[in-house]
Amino acid sequence: MAGTRSQADEAREAVVEAALGRLDLDAKARLLSGQDMWSLPALPQIGLKSLVMSDGPIGVRGVRWTADDPSVALPSPTALAATWDPELARRAGTLLAQEARRKGVHVLLAPTVNLHRSPLGGRHFEAYSEDPYLTGLIGAGYVNGVQSGGVGTTVKHFVANDAETDRFTVDNVVSQRALRELYLAPFEIIVENAHPWGIMTAYNKVNGTTMTEHRHLVNEILRGEWGFDGFNISDWMAARSTTGDIEGGLDVAMPGPDTVYGEALATAVRDGKADEATVDAAVRNVLRLAARVGILDGADPVVTELPDSVDGEALAREIARRGFVLVRNENRALPLRPKGTVALIGAAARDARVLGGGSATVFPRHTVSPLDGLTAALPEGALTYAVGADPNTELAVADKGFELRAVCRDAEGTVIGTASAPGGQIQWMGSDLPEGVTHDRLHTVELTGTFTPRETGPHTFGIKGIGAFELTIAGTTYYDDVLRPAKDDPFISFFGAPAPVGLPELTAGEPVEVSLTYVVAFREDIPMKVVGFALAHQEPQRDPDELIAEAVAAARAADTAVVVVATTERVESEGYDRKDLGLPGRQDDLVRAVAAANPNTVVIVNSGSPVELPWRDDVAAVLLSWFPGQEGGTALADVLTGAHEPGGRLPTTWGSFTDAPVTQVVPAGGRLPYSEGVFIGYRAWEKEGRTPSYPFGHGLGYTGWTYESVEVEGATVRVRVRNSGERAGREVVQVYLAPGEPDGERPARLLAGFASVEAAPGESVEVTVELPRRAFEIWDEMTMAWSFVKGSYEIQAGRSITDRRLTATITV
Ligand code: BGC
Repeated sequence: MAGTRSQADEAREAVVEAALGRLDLDAKARLLSGQDMWSLPALPQIGLKSLVMSDGPIGVRGVRWTADDPSVALPSPTALAATWDPELARRAGTLLAQEARRKGVHVLLAPTVNLHRSPLGGRHFEAYSEDPYLTGLIGAGYVNGVQSGGVGTTVKHFVANDAETDRFTVDNVVSQRALRELYLAPFEIIVENAHPWGIMTAYNKVNGTTMTEHRHLVNEILRGEWGFDGFNISDWMAARSTTGDIEGGLDVAMPGPDTVYGEALATAVRDGKADEATVDAAVRNVLRLAARVGILDGADPVVTELPDSVDGEALAREIARRGFVLVRNENRALPLRPKGTVALIGAAARDARVLGGGSATVFPRHTVSPLDGLTAALPEGALTYAVGADPNTELAVADKGFELRAVCRDAEGTVIGTASAPGGQIQWMGSDLPEGVTHDRLHTVELTGTFTPRETGPHTFGIKGIGAFELTIAGTTYYDDVLRPAKDDPFISFFGAPAPVGLPELTAGEPVEVSLTYVVAFREDIPMKVVGFALAHQEPQRDPDELIAEAVAAARAADTAVVVVATTERVESEGYDRKDLGLPGRQDDLVRAVAAANPNTVVIVNSGSPVELPWRDDVAAVLLSWFPGQEGGTALADVLTGAHEPGGRLPTTWGSFTDAPVTQVVPAGGRLPYSEGVFIGYRAWEKEGRTPSYPFGHGLGYTGWTYESVEVEGATVRVRVRNSGERAGREVVQVYLAPGEPDGERPARLLAGFASVEAAPGESVEVTVELPRRAFEIWDEMTMAWSFVKGSYEIQAGRSITDRRLTATITV
């Protein structure tokens, strides 16, 4: 971007150079190493404050893993992508910048722009789409929004971090063509259109080289070819080699304080193993970032006038309903008839699952479940509720009914600090400890408080973690021993399954005292002190057939049955991949039974990524709600009652596991070949000639659309559509480009543009889409360059990749 620098950029650059010149080698090396879990050290000698970072992408958690300082929780990235609206993504970004500033955060560790290579990817919910162009434009909107609020981003995880299995070590073997056309493409689009101030390099290797050391991809392509001028930060604990990393273009190693940079880097320079000029280049990138966000004295931040403040709850609700995808709506089952009665069914209707697990977790002030949302929206007496089936077939982190806090004691038993304990989970990493607590003094952590059961019967309690624990419930000790991991994984206390340890009989509504004490011990194999464990719980398991029978009776008595089916944190989370796409527990049986009892059955699918819907043709309507964020239940009521139409279109193909073309996510011998080449997502479904449950781009609103004309002039495509229904609506017009002479090496067609329009009933409107040159190009592995493919192409405009309404032929 050097060629396009503004005067303000030049002025900042001069301050950066001057500051760099005043730093000695030790200070420079220190700046490149985290000082703790989330920040870089301040360097008062040059007027530099400490740079603070925090995870996204759906909210800003802040530097503490607690509910003490809540965050607005927006819908999952899959939901944001389903809006097909980069402008809405930009607005999400401005809200996140506002949240970041409120929490003293300068850089948001987001967005995640890896691709939905396989539906099994555990972090699928946290990425946008199977299509690089849609991913790139949504990501660019997001980055532009965050940065317009003066907060930096780290577009992540560069690159090919598309699954979780063995993510620290896996070598993803990817052809140059697939890299360029698929996995690098979103990063390239974002660099070009949003000029991000940061990038995060991934844990994995690509073609034999670990990404934090990947000189070719980072220095030659990202910085060299694309002109990226931001900073490059490692994923947490991804940096493993002082000289490999600095030579490979990694600027900052996180988290600290023990990293491969800092003292080790200064020593490497002194020993002649690393070049000081290379260190300077990295420091320059960090100082430039500091100048941009306004924490380097003498430099004006990029943003001096903040955007208007955003109402986070209203925006969370708007994105949720705009992202809901109505994939089926027979006989106009939706919106619900006014004055009709509704039987709401499903565990997730009551205990909403609003976000996915892992580092993307935030703690919202409140969440609105479908039951809350519909209770508020429907007239009194119109709604009944039944659990039907519980997807939580395993122990989950203690949540509903628990009021817990953490009490920290020293070896003498003196209380040295306390903290809130959201959901019974403790995750204190590095210096992130409750006030007054130090690692030296901390001996035990007790999770203590009350539990008020909702159900009478045997409640299963469990412990997630490694080490010595004591669990007491209502005065009885159920465990007093040492838990040893079955598998030696340093992250087992975060991602492992809890161990069942007690089965007390409890009575609904009667609170009992609960205490779980953990004797703190640190693992040698993690370069950071981590205090991590959880209390787990499972409600009494009622006879599943009885639960289904209750739901069927409720469904029979109502005009409409609304069943909410869901995945759980054990199914979709960072840290592991899925093994299949089935819904957990008896949920499929539940839907079949309810549908047989009431023809007006509407199913809400509360998952962040595709699941199988084997009963989909037997129900009246299916609405995909993703992880809808904290206002999900209100947004759902908006859409079910018809106050708003659901606005989403599928950003990813939904189909069965057996038909899914790419399901290999488990490396063999440390290597995972991306042997499908450029054929992932719809590109692969089309190539294989398979029919998915719901195709890419599909989604219904509450009105109808006719496609009237398509015209192409140069790279400009004009599509005229008419709202042929009875209410105002919004349409996402999609433009696909299909090579006239298919050669089997190129996808049959690809998304080359899209635009949204709103129109009143009967109104005809025109949208304009500019075709990117890249849509006509392929990466030529012989010349290692983009090659423009001349010939005839069909421009296809429509409502999804399979519902193509109009075509025009062009020759280029
Ligand atoms: C994740 C990153 C995240 C980081 C910090 C890592 O495990 O892969 O996405 O930003 O942790 O929480």
